[in-house]
Amino acid sequence: MLHFQEKVAIVTGGASGIGLATATLLVQRGATTIITDIVAKRGTQAAGKTGAEFMPQDVTDEAGWQNILNEIYQKYGRLDILVNNAGIPGNISGADPEATPLAEWQKLQRVNSSSVFLGCKHAIDYMRRSGGGSIINLSSIAALIATPFITPYGASKAAVRQLTMSVAMHCATTGSKVRCNSVHPGQIRTPMLDYMFAEIASQTGTPQEAVEQTFLERIPVGEFGEPDDIAHMVVFLASDEAKHITGGQFVVDGGMQLNG
Ligand SMILES: NC(=O)c1ccc[n+]([C@@H]2O[C@H](COP(=O)([O-])OP(=O)(O)OC[C@H]3O[C@@H](n4cnc5c(N)ncnc54)[C@H](O)[C@@H]3O)[C@@H](O)[C@H]2O)c1
Repeated sequence: MLHFQEKVAIVTGGASGIGLATATLLVQRGATTIITDIVAKRGTQAAGKTGAEFMPQDVTDEAGWQNILNEIYQKYGRLDILVNNAGIPGNISGADPEATPLAEWQKLQRVNSSSVFLGCKHAIDYMRRSGGGSIINLSSIAALIATPFITPYGASKAAVRQLTMSVAMHCATTGSKVRCNSVHPGQIRTPMLDYMFAEIASQTGTPQEAVEQTFLERIPVGEFGEPDDIAHMVVFLASDEAKHITGGQFVVDGGMQLNG
C-alpha cells in the first residue's frame, strides 16, 4: 500500500473522470489533496465527496497558476505532487488536418498543452523548496499514433509528451529532486469519452451502441478502461516507490497501441 501522509498534492481538472478518481485515491492514501477545476459547482461537489479541498482554476491562466501555487504553499508549507490532468477533446467534426480551423488548433494547444507547461514551470520551484516532488502529465495514446479525426487533440497531447522529457531532464540535472512522467490512457469511460461517442453518433447518424462497439473492437483486452485504472498508475508515479522513474511514458490502454 502506497502512503502519502504529510504530502500535498494538486490535481487539475479533478472534478470529473480520471482527475476525480486520482484525487479520491490520493485522499484515501493520506495526501492533503487539492482539486482544481474550471467548473466550480462540480469541483465543490467533488471535494465534498472525496475529502479533498477545492480551488477554482482555469489552467490556461498563468497568473491563476501563480496565485494557487503560492496560496497552497503558504497554507501547507510544501508541494509534493502535481497531476496536470485537465483537458478537453475539442470538436469531433471537421478535425482532420485540412478542415481544422486555426482557432480550434490554438484552443486545443492552449488548454491541453500550454496549461501543462504553465503548471510545470511554476510548480518546480515550490517542489524544489519542499525537498523534491513528482509531476504527472496526462497525455494520451493519441500522442503516439495517428489521429486524423482529432488532429489538434493528438498534437496537443504529443506536445505534453515532449515537454515531459524536457522537464524531467531539466529537473534531474539541476538537483531539484523533482521527477516528471507522462501517462497515456487509451479509452477510459469518463464524461469525455461519452461526449465523443455521442457526438460521433449524432454526426454520422449511427446508433451510439454501434459507435461504442467500433471503438471497443480496437481494444485487445475487450473492454474500456475505468478511471481507477489510470488513477493507480498516476498514484504509483507520485509515490516514493517510483523514486528512480523520471521522463517515462506510461501507456494504460488495454493493449490498444498494439493495433498501431
Ligand atoms: N477518457 C479518456 O479516454 C482519455 C484518454 C486519453 C487521455 N485522456 C486525458 O485525461 C485527462 C482527463 O480526462 P477525462 O476523460 O477524465 O475528462 P473529463 O472531461 O471527465 O474531465 C476533465 C476535467 O477537466 C476540466 N477542465 C477542462 N478545461 C479546464 C480548464 N481550462 N481549467 C481547469 N479545468 C478544466 C473539466 O471541467 C473536467 O472536470 C484529459 O487530459 C484527457 O485528455 C482521457
